[in-house]
Amino acid sequence: MANKIHLAKRFNEIFNEDAQAFYFSPGRVNLIGEHIDYHGGLVFPAALDIGTYGALSVRRDNNVAIFSEGYGDNVVTFNLINLEKDKKTAWANYARGVFAVLKEAGYVIPIGVNIYIESDMPTSAGLSSSSSLELLLLKMLSDTFNLGLSKIDIALLGKKVENEYIGVLSGIMDQFIIAHGEKDHALLLNTGTLEYQSVPLELKDYALVIVNTNKRRGLSDSKYNERYNETMTAFKILSAYYTINHLTDLTSEDLPNIEKILGPLTFRRVRHIITEQERTINSAKALQKGDILTFSKYLDESHNSLRDDYEVTGIELDTLVDLLKEGGALGARMTGAGFGGCAIGIVPKEKVENLKTFVVNEYTKKIGYEPTFFTTSISEGTHAIKE
Ligand code: GLA
Repeated sequence: MANKIHLAKRFNEIFNEDAQAFYFSPGRVNLIGEHIDYHGGLVFPAALDIGTYGALSVRRDNNVAIFSEGYGDNVVTFNLINLEKDKKTAWANYARGVFAVLKEAGYVIPIGVNIYIESDMPTSAGLSSSSSLELLLLKMLSDTFNLGLSKIDIALLGKKVENEYIGVLSGIMDQFIIAHGEKDHALLLNTGTLEYQSVPLELKDYALVIVNTNKRRGLSDSKYNERYNETMTAFKILSAYYTINHLTDLTSEDLPNIEKILGPLTFRRVRHIITEQERTINSAKALQKGDILTFSKYLDESHNSLRDDYEVTGIELDTLVDLLKEGGALGARMTGAGFGGCAIGIVPKEKVENLKTFVVNEYTKKIGYEPTFFTTSISEGTHAIKE
């Protein structure tokens, strides 16, 4: 974990001056409610204590100079006037996108800035490193230039960067939880209304383990958009038969009739969305009652549905989830967009160490490289670092 002294030192080494402000923005894990946040569904994410760190100073010209540890030795510089994407420094497009979206929304950034970025979370691991970075930048700029952005403002602007500038048609879950995260709590968020309830993540004798498949997620963005488009088409078709605002307004009782309307593939996609909404409601109830066993069963069912109906898992995630179960997890599932990235498991605390050894060995035998276990806890949303 990077502290303020370390960030100040690195900032000074790179920009030859002192940073004025320091920030942290978390990654996130989603307990359940997967691929339904672009259909107004309920999701159940939590913010992590790993994420993205940033430091900033104001310049005397109109340039933004940004350095990200781990992305080469060069400071990337762009001008506030030209915020076009640049393929050569693709990571910095998230920053260009933040400035572009702020400008479009009428927020004035009057002068350039120097920005230092560092992360203790892997990218492309399904823990939402991109939203973490977007929200870090939005919060830093809002505070520095008194833009007065609220948590919901930075969440919505971050989503805009992702949807309109980067081109991924994602929902609001990641940005919302990264802005609103609460220590030791998961948020049960209604993505249709943006109302939420914070639920203490009390797992008693169990631990939440997060494991990275370490699979590179090459085509994930186009596959993600493919699912979005398939299910939006289904929504349009079904809107002619049902009075609904979102696909998640339908219930499993409607499924036999929906099967008559849609083709087999689209039907499976919609079945995932409808049943995942119900699993999320039921699993949150179970967790609130302290019924970890029932909660875990819903995690298993969610994974099966994402594997068979929504088809966003793949051999690495399926193998990892199976091994977590074999190694003693009460329940396990992929988390995030899928196609690689991370899985989560609910594991009796006393079994965690043995399970790690078992899963690392067996996964490496089957897949050819190691998975990574994270030691992390549930933390608060994007904030300034005071100490
Ligand atoms: C990604 C997106 C989210 C959500 C998840 C799947 O993380 O950014 O909006 O759709 O995938 O649940």
